[in-house]
Amino acid sequence: WALMQEDIAAIRDLKQARDAIILAHNYQTPDIYHGVADIVGDSLALAREAMSARASVIVVAGVHFMAETAKLLNPDKTVLIPDSRAGCSLAESITAADVRSLRARHPGLPVIAYVNTSAAVKAEVDYCCTSANARKVVEHAARAAGTDAVIMLPDRFLAANTARETAIRIIAWDGACEVHERFTAADIAQVRRQHDGVAVLAHPECPEEVVAAADFAGSTAALADYIARHRPARAALITECSMADNIAAASPGTTFVKPCNLCPHMKRITLAGIRRALETMTEPVTIAPALAAPARAAVERMLAIP
Ligand code: 13P
Ligand code: SF4
Repeated sequence: WALMQEDIAAIRDLKQARDAIILAHNYQTPDIYHGVADIVGDSLALAREAMSARASVIVVAGVHFMAETAKLLNPDKTVLIPDSRAGCSLAESITAADVRSLRARHPGLPVIAYVNTSAAVKAEVDYCCTSANARKVVEHAARAAGTDAVIMLPDRFLAANTARETAIRIIAWDGACEVHERFTAADIAQVRRQHDGVAVLAHPECPEEVVAAADFAGSTAALADYIARHRPARAALITECSMADNIAAASPGTTFVKPCNLCPHMKRITLAGIRRALETMTEPVTIAPALAAPARAAVERMLAIP
């Protein structure tokens, strides 16, 4: 506890000295989320905040693709990630060459990449999307291209869950989130048996049968918003474990029940790591110049959709 307080105090001083802000994803641990973050949110909110950040240094307490997105959108800033090994099974599941071969197999179809991808993959696609705007981006991309189908990569579950909400045909890739793919419909049946009246909220990276069995599905920000608006007595957040820990303080009337799964990549980011990042100014995120412009264009096309 004393060490944690010391790290938090040191990070607050370092933020001032470096003219830095900390953007933290909803899956960061509460010491980061409540203790040192300036902005917290889902991937979409963090991208928007990164784009408009005025500080000289942006520390991304999240995984690598989130730091890359921040750098793409605000290239003149120093963007630091406290541990560059903080990856993502979705980002790992597809390469730029895979996107080119998908395009060759489906000529004329717009290509949408989930923001959980590398800058090299984003550089090959027409639009990015997040879990907060997937259906909107799919429908916009199809309308703009005059097609009734799109390619959406790399998450097969986000693609399937989005396909349930739209008439547009979605051609998917075979990637999955190692955290969300482990949830099953049997988990939901069990939580409902154990906790009468529980509200079950799932992230759309979960398999279709899990989302179908939930009461609500949405991005991490949408899940938090649902709890704030509906204030259920009991809720199961079918997603990463820190999510419930972080919103518990703001939701005193709600008891959060299991299951949840940990993301090992998000958990690489620690208070000590953030302190070290600000002390040593490591690790700065860089993006190869040839990739930066086309990758940024894909993210900006997403952000421009009203
Ligand atoms: P959100 O955009 O919903 O925050 O999700 C990011 C993520 O990595 C979920 O696993
Ligand atoms: Fe990637 Fe899944 Fe971790 Fe999110 S929870 S960063 S999608 S591995």
